[in-house]
Amino acid sequence: MKILVTGGTGYIGSHTVVELQNEGYEVLIIDNLSNSSADVVNNIEKISGVKPYFHKIDLCDRKALEEFFADQKDITAVIHFAAFKAVGESVNDPLMYYHNNVTGMVNLLQEIQKNSINKFVYSSSCTVYGEADKLPVTENSPVKKAESPYGFTKQIGEQMLFDISKISELNSIVLRYFNPTGAHDTSLIGELPIGIPNNLVPYITQTAIGKREMLTVNGNDYDTPDGTNIRDYIHVVDLAKAHVLALKRMEDKKAETQIEVFNLGTGNGNSVLEVINSFENVTGLKLNYKIGPRRGGDVVSIFSDTKKANEVLGWKAERDLDDMMLTSWNWQKRIGKD
Ligand code: WQD
Repeated sequence: MKILVTGGTGYIGSHTVVELQNEGYEVLIIDNLSNSSADVVNNIEKISGVKPYFHKIDLCDRKALEEFFADQKDITAVIHFAAFKAVGESVNDPLMYYHNNVTGMVNLLQEIQKNSINKFVYSSSCTVYGEADKLPVTENSPVKKAESPYGFTKQIGEQMLFDISKISELNSIVLRYFNPTGAHDTSLIGELPIGIPNNLVPYITQTAIGKREMLTVNGNDYDTPDGTNIRDYIHVVDLAKAHVLALKRMEDKKAETQIEVFNLGTGNGNSVLEVINSFENVTGLKLNYKIGPRRGGDVVSIFSDTKKANEVLGWKAERDLDDMMLTSWNWQKRIGKD
């Protein structure tokens, strides 16, 4: 089975490519390398023993995308990761997010329709829930007004899939990630933010390695036990395995409806200070941080109800916060301050 993974040199994409190859799939990666490096392909090969096909393509380059699909006729499914994903950054540059995430997905889906590909796994996000009224959030929790342009682009992507499922044979599985973190046990692949990290954990590890002076905690005056935001952190390898199960579910025609949605989280909520505490405990280091102002676009608290993914998809997160911190730190130590 030939699987196209868009964004496959990225953080979650690369870990998913490894899990797909471990299951014997042939993987094609297209990626514009805007937030990753082509060297990731070599490290994937070091882990799995198989070098995936890679071609640098931007989903917004329609001609290049058409040529790719004309060359690769026997793709059986697509897993779509390629998108910008930083909440704070999207608040500061909405149009960059709308163009890249929405136009890119429209181009991809049009090529998928033209080539009669009928299995699609979509990288969505818990940010579609906005500031949930009730926690934990289930897949039936209301999709509220997104708190950031990033979250809105994910809502638009989901709506596209709902709309085309009514007029096509496309089967989709929408995976709503909570907060991906951690790295592969080999430390050969991990989160590789280009420039100043937007996300908490790479900023923590870059501060600890001395690449950043100090971590700023974005506000401690929220209505939570310690005043800092609560998130459901999930190990990236757990997340990657869920994508293989989603693909198999469609291949085995077990899906109950043409489009299915699953929350991918641990069901546990941890505050920013608890994450810092976990990092300090597993590494024995004292992290240099200060409390700063709130960040635009942040919801106060969100964590998942994992019942549906556990019982229907047959997937459960196995790795805990300490393990996420340890693998993130091992990865940072391997790449150093570069
Ligand atoms: C977490 C908390 C920050 C940096 C992420 C992904 C998004 C989606 C959901 C998958 C917030 C605080 C951060 C820093 C801080 N996942 N923070 N100092 O915004 O929840 O979104 O998970 O699709 O794609 O980006 O994650 O790591 O940016 O922030 O205090 O230097 O850490 O304010 O409270 P977020 P994050």
